[in-house]
Amino acid sequence: MSPARSTKGGVKKRGQGEEEQHDVTGVEAKEASGGKRVCRGGAHGRESPNILVTGTPGTGKSLLCSRLLERQDESFKLRWINVGEFARERGHLGQWDPDFECHELEEDSLLDDLEEPAAAGGLVVDHHVTDFFPERFFDAVFVLRAESERLYDRLKERGYAGKKLENNMQCEIFQTVLDEARESYREEIVHELRSDNLEELEQNVSRIRTWMRQWRIDNSCQQK
Ligand SMILES: Nc1ncnc2c1ncn2[C@@H]1O[C@H](COP(=O)(O)OP(=O)(O)OP(=O)(O)O)[C@@H](O)[C@H]1O
Ligand SMILES: [Mg+2]
Repeated sequence: MSPARSTKGGVKKRGQGEEEQHDVTGVEAKEASGGKRVCRGGAHGRESPNILVTGTPGTGKSLLCSRLLERQDESFKLRWINVGEFARERGHLGQWDPDFECHELEEDSLLDDLEEPAAAGGLVVDHHVTDFFPERFFDAVFVLRAESERLYDRLKERGYAGKKLENNMQCEIFQTVLDEARESYREEIVHELRSDNLEELEQNVSRIRTWMRQWRIDNSCQQK
């Protein structure tokens, strides 16, 4: 059972079939520029990477994102989008799902609204469902995991009970979000991170910052 499946809608991967249009690789960019090296910007011309921070509710996505933004290198110009809040602010919430006690998402309009920030780069998307975003949005997907007892305490503390609590606990125990992420994105860009305590939180922030700097080096914009 997935957390709040109702926010997810279908399992289609938007952008399938669009990849070629958007996929300007470094090699292609070099050829197009007459042999000079140009900014590869990953596969999609971005100067900062886009990442998805995901995991079962309560695993610590928002805490991690807030720390990452606090400690970001200025030049990355990160923009954190918490999908639930963004959808509420921009009018992409659908009907209330009484089973999961949350609103459905109007995925198509939400994704249209995310196109511009995704194209700008430096996007940090915070959401517990992975499989409705176009693959081309993200350069890495970080899946947070938490030990059951800790997750249970965190969810109880925020007032989760009954079916909602049970669904989320099962989701984490059966590593549903991790499996979905691995099915939805290339395996090599999906990273599992433990998020049981504050020490691990800090390690995760450092690890993502290191990954971002390396991404910059690997996708450098230097002219030759
Ligand atoms: N690594 C961690 N160590 C200790 N406590 C943590 C850790 N990560 C998160 N927490 C705590 O767990 C609670 C849930 O964290 P947070 O709100 O970041 O989760 P979330 O994954 O964003 O949940 P949701 O999907 O519902 O938004 C918060 O009280 C937070 O302070
Ligand atoms: Mg959150």
